[in-house]
Amino acid sequence: MSFRIQPQAPARPNRCQLFGPGSRPALFEKMAASAADVINLDLEDSVAPTDKDAARANIIAAISDVDWGNKTLSVRINGLDTPYWYRDVVDLMEQAGERLDQIMIPKVGCAADIYAVDALVTAIETAKGRTKKINFEVIIESAAGIAHVEEIAASSPRLVAMSLGAADFAASMGMATTGIGGTQENYYMLREGAKYWSDPWHWAQAAIVAACRTHGVLPVDGPFGDFSDDEGYRAQALRSATLGMVGKWAIHPKQIALANEVFTPSEAAVTEAREILAAMEQAKANGEGATVYKGRLVDIASIKQAEVIVRQSEMIANS
Ligand code: COA
Ligand code: MG
Repeated sequence: MSFRIQPQAPARPNRCQLFGPGSRPALFEKMAASAADVINLDLEDSVAPTDKDAARANIIAAISDVDWGNKTLSVRINGLDTPYWYRDVVDLMEQAGERLDQIMIPKVGCAADIYAVDALVTAIETAKGRTKKINFEVIIESAAGIAHVEEIAASSPRLVAMSLGAADFAASMGMATTGIGGTQENYYMLREGAKYWSDPWHWAQAAIVAACRTHGVLPVDGPFGDFSDDEGYRAQALRSATLGMVGKWAIHPKQIALANEVFTPSEAAVTEAREILAAMEQAKANGEGATVYKGRLVDIASIKQAEVIVRQSEMIANS
């Protein structure tokens, strides 16, 4: 470890972030009753320009009127390149109740984007005497966002989570894709005439995880558009979890259980992690730094890997 200790990300479950358009208030009670850890009420791309004002009013009312239980409650505002975002922030901060936890800022391209929203939020918080400090989450979904991902992760103490938005990201990068996330037909390696599909999102995901882990921010995988394809969603989520992400979005309720399943450490994984910890305790008692577990090497690094799984499992169980 560097002299500078890696900070811990917030210890709260973020396995599934369920989205719903602010223009469909009939969904809000269903979202609140769901098994998602985080609720994202949307003012951005699922809301038509003519519905922005109504969606804002719906969301502000619902923040106080709906019982959101112990979920993290977040509102996605419009991007800083639109004429809507300042009104989103002003109305939310002046009118929404203290139940609001988070503001999600889409399409961030540099740390100054966060600075601008932070300045506005801070001024209104102070002016209105709001006692709860609003957190931020951001979406990396542009070439600039991924190029500046580390400065964005470091941009504000309000920042708690960062998601990859595959569709806008692909468009900004000029990628020849149409689906939202998942396997891409033309991204394969050839060996002896057989195709082996690869993962075009891998680099962006790993870059986001590294930036987030450096600065104590939760890395999250964004949407998977084909909500009829459970196995495709599961495969994408498993890859994300393997790379260090803590959760994934749901854009339809049927994706919630899939996300919760993948991002909750399985009983088998927790049992194995505990066995590795026990084996290393025994090794330590014998004055050894390494030992053999099920025919393979485990050493002091294995303790840290096992602790990630056990800590995540305990945090979720206690939440
Ligand atoms: N949250 C909670 N419940 C939802 C929901 C959501 N996001 N989307 C649909 N439901 C409910 C429906 O109301 C319906 O409930 P019912 O059984 O009580 O009638 C049930 O789940 C099945 O819905 P279905 O008919 O399959 O979907 P739909 O045609 O109503 O809506 C979408 C499909 C994709 C348009 C809708 O799920 C949606 O708007 N998702 C979020 C989009 C979004 O926010 N995008 C921005 C982030 S990328
Ligand atoms: Mg987007």
